[in-house]
Amino acid sequence: MFTKKKPTIAVLTSGGDAPGMNAAIRAVVRSAIAREMKIFGVYHGYNGLIDGKFEEMQLRSVSDIMQKGGTMLYTARCPEFCTQEGIDKAVKMCYRYGIDGVVTIGGDGTFRGAGELSAAGVPCVGIPCTIDNDIACSEYTIGYDTAMNTAMRMVDNIRDTVQSHDRCNIVEVMGRHAGWLALNTGISCGASVVLVPEIEYDFDRDIHSKITSTFGTGKHHFIIVAAEGVGGLDEIAKQIIDKTGMEVRTTVLGHIQRGGSPTVQDRVYATEMGYRAVELLSEGKGNRVVAIKDGKMVDYDLNEALAMKKPFDYELFEIAHAVSI
Ligand code: F6P
Repeated sequence: MFTKKKPTIAVLTSGGDAPGMNAAIRAVVRSAIAREMKIFGVYHGYNGLIDGKFEEMQLRSVSDIMQKGGTMLYTARCPEFCTQEGIDKAVKMCYRYGIDGVVTIGGDGTFRGAGELSAAGVPCVGIPCTIDNDIACSEYTIGYDTAMNTAMRMVDNIRDTVQSHDRCNIVEVMGRHAGWLALNTGISCGASVVLVPEIEYDFDRDIHSKITSTFGTGKHHFIIVAAEGVGGLDEIAKQIIDKTGMEVRTTVLGHIQRGGSPTVQDRVYATEMGYRAVELLSEGKGNRVVAIKDGKMVDYDLNEALAMKKPFDYELFEIAHAVSI
């Protein structure tokens, strides 16, 4: 007698890792099993989809991972998946394993891959997960809160020594081409200046005159938080030394921001998004991305989501500068 195949889905993480990825994987696996689906974990992102690095996940496969940074499925950027040949190989592999849908956890690049895969006949649902918070369709991306808190703690540490030495420290935070991480880190640690790629700065107006006025009010240390997308930090440091005589240090926080145990916010959003992604696939909806809008969970067509633009929070930027005097 013919028995109906159990609905089967897969989950992968791709692109840069972010704290909360594990919590999202856990939610996807558990939600799928709760719906009596078969669920495969795919190792090393789209590479694993091409090479068939699949493992069937059980309830206990995802125990004790919620609190861990990184991703138990490993991650990678996969140039082969940008070629038609790579996509064809992945589709074949999905057919071989009887996969009806894939949950893809990551950033913009991950979503573009998910769009290609959906168009090739394997429905995908994306979960926004990057410390950069640069996914246009969603107010929030998993990993962002943890990264902001890590960066804030690091800059707090830097403040201790900057203050003791009456120095200036320029701290570079991640964010790729976006300034969200820098803006919120800068506000939360009381930086004197925040530099973001979305807003052009003028050295004399935004940095030099601020140092001069700060000195005039009796403060002799100065913290600048700059997004990596701004660039040219050594040049800024040199200009400060030349024009003010201050001692300047630069600190690149780097990958320390990508690791660590996720915050409550990241764990909760990851769980909610993982659950919703599986729900969408079980309703037969693919080529979607889950997102947060006005604090609520929504979902969008993947292509529409990729075409959206995220307006920068200029008002918050103004506030940051208004209070850092
Ligand atoms: O997208 C996350 C991110 O950490 C960016 O902030 C940063 O520009 C980039 O990834 C670093 O990538 P990699 O881990 O490949 O050095």
